Amino acid sequence: MSGSPTVLVVGAAGRFAGLVVPALVGRGARVRGLARSEEQGKQARLNGAAEIAIGDLRDRASLDAALRDVERAFYLAPVYREDEARMGLSFIDAAKAAGLRRMVFSSAIHPVIGVLQNHIQKVPVEEALIESGMEFTILNPAVFYQNITAAWLGVVATGVFAEPFSAAKRISRVDYRDVAEVAAIALTEDRLLNGTFELCADGGMDRTEVAAVMGEVLGRRIEAAAPDFGTWVSRTKLPYDDHQKAELAAMYAFYDRHGLVGNALTLRAILGRAPRSIRQFFADLAEGTKTTAG
Ligand SMILES: NC(=O)c1ccc[n+]([C@@H]2O[C@H](COP(=O)([O-])OP(=O)(O)OC[C@H]3O[C@@H](n4cnc5c(N)ncnc54)[C@H](OP(=O)(O)O)[C@@H]3O)[C@@H](O)[C@H]2O)c1
Repeated sequence: MSGSPTVLVVGAAGRFAGLVVPALVGRGARVRGLARSEEQGKQARLNGAAEIAIGDLRDRASLDAALRDVERAFYLAPVYREDEARMGLSFIDAAKAAGLRRMVFSSAIHPVIGVLQNHIQKVPVEEALIESGMEFTILNPAVFYQNITAAWLGVVATGVFAEPFSAAKRISRVDYRDVAEVAAIALTEDRLLNGTFELCADGGMDRTEVAAVMGEVLGRRIEAAAPDFGTWVSRTKLPYDDHQKAELAAMYAFYDRHGLVGNALTLRAILGRAPRSIRQFFADLAEGTKTTAG
C-alpha cells in the first residue's frame, strides 16, 4: 500500500474486529480505530491503533467525522442488533459521502438464511456495498473458534463441552485470526478486490468430534452435551440483552435442524497455507496463548 493510507477499523476495541488492527499494522497500514468511548479507545490503542475516532454506528455525524481523510475501512456489524442492517447502510452512505475508496465487510457465512436475523440483515449491506462504486471485499466467515474461548475453563473443570443443539450436527468453523489476516490482505493488496469469499477452516465437525479433539489436547475424555437453550443460557454468563438472546436461540434452533457447513477451499487459497485447525486453537487455549483481542 503506497504511503500507508489510514484505515478506519470499526470495532477496533472488540474481541474479533480488534484482531484486524494488529494484522493491518503488521502489513504497514496506519489504523484509526472507531470506538464508542474513551475507555474503548484505550483498548483500541492497545490493539495497535495509531489514532481513535470516538463515534457510534447510530450517530451519522460521528461517522462523517470518523471517515474524514481515510481512504479505506474495515466494517463488522455489532452482533444480534435489531437495526444491524440500518447501521451498515448508514456506514456505507457515510463512506460514499466521505469519498472512501475501499471497504472490507466482515459479513457471515450463508447470509441468505432468511430465518436468521444475524444472517439475513447482512444481505442489504452486501448489496449496498456492491452498488456503492467503492472497491470492495466481502468476507463470509463460518462460526468462529473463538466462541469456545469463554467455555474453555468450564470444559477443563467439568470434562463436558456443551452447546444447545444436537451433538450430531456438523458446523464449519474458522479462527478469526485467519479472517483478520484475510481482511488485512484485502485492505493492503489488490488481489481480493471486488470479491466475495466464504471463509471456513477444514473440518466441519460435529460436537462429538470436536469434544474428541479437545480430549486429545487435554489428555482426558471430554463429553459432548446438548442441554436445552434455557438450561444452557442460565449457566452461561452472556453479556446479551433479551433481544440478543432471542436471536441466539433462533440460531441454535437452526443449527439443531440443519447444522451449518461451508467450504474450506477459498480460505486456504487466499492464505497460501492451511487454515488454523481447531486442534491448534485448543492447544493455544491450553497453553494460555491469546486468541482474541482485548
Ligand atoms: N461469532 C461468530 O461465530 C460469528 C460468525 C460469523 C459472523 N459473525 C458476525 O461477526 C460480527 C461479530 O460481532 P461482535 O459484536 O461479536 O464482534 P466484536 O469484535 O466484539 O465487535 C463489536 C465491536 O463493535 C462495537 N460496537 C457495538 N455497538 C456499536 C455501535 N453502535 N457503534 C460503534 N461500535 C459499536 C463494540 O464496542 P462496545 O464494547 O462499545 O459495544 C465492539 O468493539 C457480527 O456481525 C456477527 O453476526 C459472528
